[in-house]
Amino acid sequence: MSRIAIIPGDGIGVDVTREAVKVLCCVRDEAGLPLELVHWELGAQRYLDTGVTITPAEMTALGSEYDAIFLGALGDPRVPDNVHARDILLGMRFQLDLYINLRPIRLFDGAMSPLRDVRPEDVDMVIFRENTEGVYAGMGGTFKQGTADEVAIEEDINTRKGVERIIRAAFEHARANGRRRVTLADKANAMPHAGGLYRRVFADVGAEYDDVARNAVYADALALDLVLHPSSYDVIVAANLFGDILSDLAAALVGGLGLAPSASLHPGRAGLFEPVHGSAPDLAGRNRANPFAAIMTAALMLRELGHAGAAGAIEGSVHRAVRGGHTTADLGGDLGTDAAGDWVCQDLRESGF
Ligand code: NAD
Ligand code: IPM
Ligand code: MN
Repeated sequence: MSRIAIIPGDGIGVDVTREAVKVLCCVRDEAGLPLELVHWELGAQRYLDTGVTITPAEMTALGSEYDAIFLGALGDPRVPDNVHARDILLGMRFQLDLYINLRPIRLFDGAMSPLRDVRPEDVDMVIFRENTEGVYAGMGGTFKQGTADEVAIEEDINTRKGVERIIRAAFEHARANGRRRVTLADKANAMPHAGGLYRRVFADVGAEYDDVARNAVYADALALDLVLHPSSYDVIVAANLFGDILSDLAAALVGGLGLAPSASLHPGRAGLFEPVHGSAPDLAGRNRANPFAAIMTAALMLRELGHAGAAGAIEGSVHRAVRGGHTTADLGGDLGTDAAGDWVCQDLRESGF
């Protein structure tokens, strides 16, 4: 039995998690997958009601009593400094030491891409984003706040251990999945300390993988080249902030955030599975959010839990939905969030996976 904590969170996190849960229940009931889904109420409302974001006991329970955690999204305009999202989301990534943020990007249908004349085989890449350090470490502070002399410091923390394990994970993934090349995105030209460490470790670790090609590209130039020549990229490895920015850009190439799944992993431990997108307050509760990123995130979770067949079947149904135009408005369709989820469930049942 796989025990899964379900945290819908805020905004469209609630809308899309409902559809991902629908699909998980569908594969559980149709294919007899042993899944136990346990609902968790964490998010802005709880924080506004009680002043509590997440307790240490809850963090411990999430890390030790579950096989996986599924999160919709966190972020609410009523919490302008986003403290609850940092405590819960970055809290899980950091405290559970989920150092790999895996973000696969695949084009299902050329018509979904804003790029001209692009084919599905042209955009198929995986971003390995470092998930436990970098500028996200929260080290720094403000000095003379509110005065004309105010100072804000945000330290960029990069450890050899942290850099090595994310780079190794990228090369291991490339080797295990027949991917030809790993590209390092950094700013070694402007940030020589962090960039230098990344480049040295990339060369050292890369030398152990002589079957996988490698190159290093400045993150700004990579942002340009991902748009111009997406087929040149296979596996991309980057520090926390560059990986965050590049993964939204890469999502745009395949049709937007409504199609971008993600997983925060530490091999051997329970992972955290979350779509790349946020809580999109503009769409929340309006039956307009695209649930496919969340549904593909559920597929990613099932694959990690050892249910590759069910994962592939779900991805196949989403693929057919996108190609057939059974989508929400962001992809040009006229389905609501719930109808798009229903379409995937119906297709799963009919395809008899
Ligand atoms: P966002 O991802 O919520 O939205 C960016 C744009 O993409 C918006 O135009 C939105 O309408 C659109 N969009 C996003 N998901 C969509 C979907 N499923 N279907 C259709 N359109 C979709 O990013 P933002 O506006 O920068 O952030 C909103 C809040 O979410 C903030 O509080 C932010 O901190 C938070 N956030 C949370 C996570 C997370 O919990 N993992 C990730 C990103 C942002
Ligand atoms: C993401 C989000 C988060 C991040 C925010 C909400 C802190 O943008 O998951 O990509 O920057 O990691
Ligand atoms: Mn992001």
